[in-house]
Amino acid sequence: MRRRLALLAVLAAVVAGCAELRARFPGPDVLFIATPEAVGVEMLRLAAVTAGDVVFDLGSGDGRVVVAAARDFGARGVGVEIDAELVQQSRDTAYGAGVAERATFLWQDLFATDLREATVVTLYLRDDVNLRLRPKLLRELAPGSRVVSRDFDMGDWRPDRVQRVRGPARDHRLHLWVVPADGAGVWRTRLGEREALLNLTQRYQLLSGTLSLEGRELAIAGGRLAGDRITFTAGALSFSGRLTGDAIEGRAGEGIDPTALAWTARRVR
Ligand SMILES: C[S@@+](CC[C@H](N)C(=O)[O-])C[C@H]1O[C@@H](n2cnc3c(N)ncnc32)[C@H](O)[C@@H]1O
Repeated sequence: MRRRLALLAVLAAVVAGCAELRARFPGPDVLFIATPEAVGVEMLRLAAVTAGDVVFDLGSGDGRVVVAAARDFGARGVGVEIDAELVQQSRDTAYGAGVAERATFLWQDLFATDLREATVVTLYLRDDVNLRLRPKLLRELAPGSRVVSRDFDMGDWRPDRVQRVRGPARDHRLHLWVVPADGAGVWRTRLGEREALLNLTQRYQLLSGTLSLEGRELAIAGGRLAGDRITFTAGALSFSGRLTGDAIEGRAGEGIDPTALAWTARRVR
């Protein structure tokens, strides 16, 4: 009886230890399937990667997308991978390709990774994993950062572009999103010599709302934020500008001269 109790206690300790290990080192959300090299390069092209970018591949597998970002685009690459063997393989590949200094591989859970440094994020995960990741991407990435996902989308965050590419075995859909700045709120705005009030509602990169100008309330149409670039029309007027924090600076106008007027705005609520 005493031996049985001791055995049970040992078993309980092992189970608890496994649970703790599992919490610290969770298993993969998606199994490893490599992106064909040429498709990976198309993903980086779609994101218009340059030497100034920091490219994070979340769930980086054998590291091929990160190595391509460093080798073929001159960018700095960071791979995040939960499988230790794949991390080691990635480091060896980066070393062999002569880009070890610009390609870093982190052995960790992508959901526990700080993404604020990334200017481009590449993904080949799954629909449901993308959806779980979506709030983190929107929270941590700076406006103008690009996200490219192979095959899987982001639910009602519609891509800014979709591109079909031919892989060795089948066609792939590449989705591109540009992280929008925060444009929602009430903006006191100056249009040439006139004052107006702009009320904006935002759903991801899309803007709707009203412009109150000289006693008239005009509906906002075609409102969009591409990173910090804001564009919309209200009545016959077209607006375009750059949003920084609580300020917008840009131009507005009508018909053949859509940039005739200086346009500034300040968020008041
Ligand atoms: C489908 S593979 C894509 C590999 C690589 N990005 C590519 O396109 O070739 C997904 C990778 O994500 C890794 N992974 C899954 N869940 C993860 C997590 N929570 N954190 C980090 N890596 C994860 C898997 O181990 C696997 O290597």
